[in-house]
Amino acid sequence: MTGRFEGYAVLITGAGRGIGEATARRFASEGARVLVTDLDGERAARAAAGLRGDGLTADALACDIGDRTAVEAAVAFAADRYGRLDVLVNNAYSFHPDPPLVEDFEDEAWARDLDITLTGAFRCVRAAMPLLSAAGGRASVISVGSVNGEQDFGNHAYSAAKAGLAGLTRTLAGHCAARGVRVNLVAPGTIRTPGWAGREASLDRAAAHYPLGRVGRPEDIAAAVAFLASPDASWITGVTLPVDGGILIGNVGLRRALRRDSAEDSADSAEGRPDQVQDVVVGEPERP
Ligand SMILES: NC(=O)c1ccc[n+]([C@@H]2O[C@H](COP(=O)([O-])OP(=O)(O)OC[C@H]3O[C@@H](n4cnc5c(N)ncnc54)[C@H](O)[C@@H]3O)[C@@H](O)[C@H]2O)c1
Repeated sequence: MTGRFEGYAVLITGAGRGIGEATARRFASEGARVLVTDLDGERAARAAAGLRGDGLTADALACDIGDRTAVEAAVAFAADRYGRLDVLVNNAYSFHPDPPLVEDFEDEAWARDLDITLTGAFRCVRAAMPLLSAAGGRASVISVGSVNGEQDFGNHAYSAAKAGLAGLTRTLAGHCAARGVRVNLVAPGTIRTPGWAGREASLDRAAAHYPLGRVGRPEDIAAAVAFLASPDASWITGVTLPVDGGILIGNVGLRRALRRDSAEDSADSAEGRPDQVQDVVVGEPERP
């Protein structure tokens, strides 16, 4: 690894495991000092200790992004500890499975998903802006959205919140540009993380839908986040970058249904993909 982020200070929410933890490792491996925050303080502490055990620089803090005071305390911690903040990664989220009927979706569940997944990202940006805008023009915010914010993969509240993050990203990018802060979004497809624990069969079925033939790894998202934070992306702001194994290209099931039984198909079959697609369960997964 190069030291692309030597001298950078990075704050990541929901970084105790999964994509957030992999992103923390990526930044720390490239020289950054990383503040690992998570609703679950012990999880954050374990993740940061793992990084320090590998000779990297990381601190841990419990932080619920639903709590404005806790978010401001996390930013104040970064200010005290590092004297600066260069990158904010909005990764924490809330996910409530859809009930079978939309009329059974309760206000509390809806409000919780919007409050954590969308408003939580706003809370973090609001608290971090003074430090980010003082970072000498190299600062950026990267939020973790979802392909659910781009197309229908199920789940009303989660998808609405993720689509909201795309809108928030654009407006914040315009607002923050003159202050030297870029704002971007990555939209992952299905990623094998502890969030899917107990649903391995869903992940295996989902893999068959992906043009690139597998579900994602947390490191796939970490790499994209690091790119968007790096000087290589210094002229990129306000974008949504799908990191999705090609799932947003089009409808694999429809393409297969429309296929002719022809020589073209045997070319496809040589890759083995059409056979894999046969066992797909429509509607799964609900949370790519
Ligand atoms: N895994 C996927 O398939 C997938 C697909 C698309 C998008 N994403 C997005 O990637 C991000 C990370 O997903 P993951 O699968 O790594 O999640 P995960 O469930 O494995 O980990 C999420 C972490 O966030 C923490 N968290 C939950 N609520 C919080 C709160 N209020 N404040 C602070 N921390 C909180 C949890 O304690 C947990 O450690 C999320 O934004 C998710 O929507 C994931």
